[in-house]
Amino acid sequence: MSKTYLVTGGAGFIGSNFIHYLLKKHQDILLVNVDKLTYAGNLENLASVMDDKRHVFAQADICDKDAMEKLFDLYDFDYVVNFAAESHVDRSIKDPDVFARTNVMGTVNLLNLAKKHWLIGEDTYKPGVKFQQVSTDEVYGALGSEGFFTETTPLSPHSPYSASKASADLFVQAYGDTYKLPLNITRCSNNYGPYQFPEKLIPLMINNCLTKKQLPVYGDGMQVRDWLYVEDHCRAIDLVLSKGRPGEVYNVGGHNERPNVFIVKSIIDYVHDSIDPSVSEALIKHVVDRKGHDRRYGIDPQKIKDELGWEPETMFEDGIKLTIRWYLEHREWMEHVTSGSYQKYYEQMYANR
Ligand SMILES: NC(=O)c1ccc[n+]([C@@H]2O[C@H](COP(=O)([O-])OP(=O)(O)OC[C@H]3O[C@@H](n4cnc5c(N)ncnc54)[C@H](O)[C@@H]3O)[C@@H](O)[C@H]2O)c1
Repeated sequence: MSKTYLVTGGAGFIGSNFIHYLLKKHQDILLVNVDKLTYAGNLENLASVMDDKRHVFAQADICDKDAMEKLFDLYDFDYVVNFAAESHVDRSIKDPDVFARTNVMGTVNLLNLAKKHWLIGEDTYKPGVKFQQVSTDEVYGALGSEGFFTETTPLSPHSPYSASKASADLFVQAYGDTYKLPLNITRCSNNYGPYQFPEKLIPLMINNCLTKKQLPVYGDGMQVRDWLYVEDHCRAIDLVLSKGRPGEVYNVGGHNERPNVFIVKSIIDYVHDSIDPSVSEALIKHVVDRKGHDRRYGIDPQKIKDELGWEPETMFEDGIKLTIRWYLEHREWMEHVTSGSYQKYYEQMYANR
């Protein structure tokens, strides 16, 4: 049956991958993509689907009550998938306010609108609706060398970014508990793949290797993250939306724990062997560690496997090759992002219509 989705933050990294994934997978859908187009929003990520009738783009701020209300009035949404966020930890350390505004208040605004538009009686909602909050393993805090985060691990965020995401998660849970709003929260590990803004580790290192710039590594580089190929994440969100038990949290992890410096060396090795033999570990430059840098994150994704049959399909060794090749084949995309000209894309596109 046809579904109408509100996808927020759909011009960002994971949101745009999710839109491509859904349009390929489902024929009979309507995706309304709301994005403020901050520095992280890039409509070039969606160039191939901007003329697809199943995808409607609206530039708006999820905190803007009137603008968002108009969209809820105009479309009869079945699903809200909330990707929109300020997402970069380093930026949150410099300027936490915008993280509180978008990540917390923006989420509360969407929850209020979903509740208002979906409620059909006392604690009863239009059949089949679901609010899905896309969250992060960073809300759980840091791990030592042993153990994994499960869905019942207490929230213990350390950075302003993770604190804002944890706050949003608590509001989402509260709307489930208090108003019985049908919802899920997914908490995933570090994503990588096409269309990621090159302030994040993997695209930054690929771009710097290809342009032979230094490769800045925080501290000793032994911070461990679990890496999830973005398409695996999109598949998990799609599955949780349609089959997840309302009110539940699902952890989504890649079974791919690696120290950051290992990631950097893997990229160097691939570029050295396949593209440019002059690229070597001499490009690595250890820089002062990030404040409050969590040492290890590790996800236990057993619940989503047991309940919904989801497992990561792309192991890191394959995913990193796919990712490097994608950035190689999309040098123009990278050039537009690093030069800043991607921000003109929207104006040019609409001027030409
Ligand atoms: N990238 C990861 O590894 C990762 C891991 C775990 C969780 N997440 C979560 O997944 C979601 C998407 O992450 P991402 O990496 O794609 O982020 P991103 O920074 O690439 O994209 C965020 C998008 O949200 C938009 N946006 C920002 N503020 C907005 C506002 N006020 N109103 C409307 N749109 C706004 C931006 O323009 C951008 O397009 C975020 O909620 C993030 O917390 C990301």
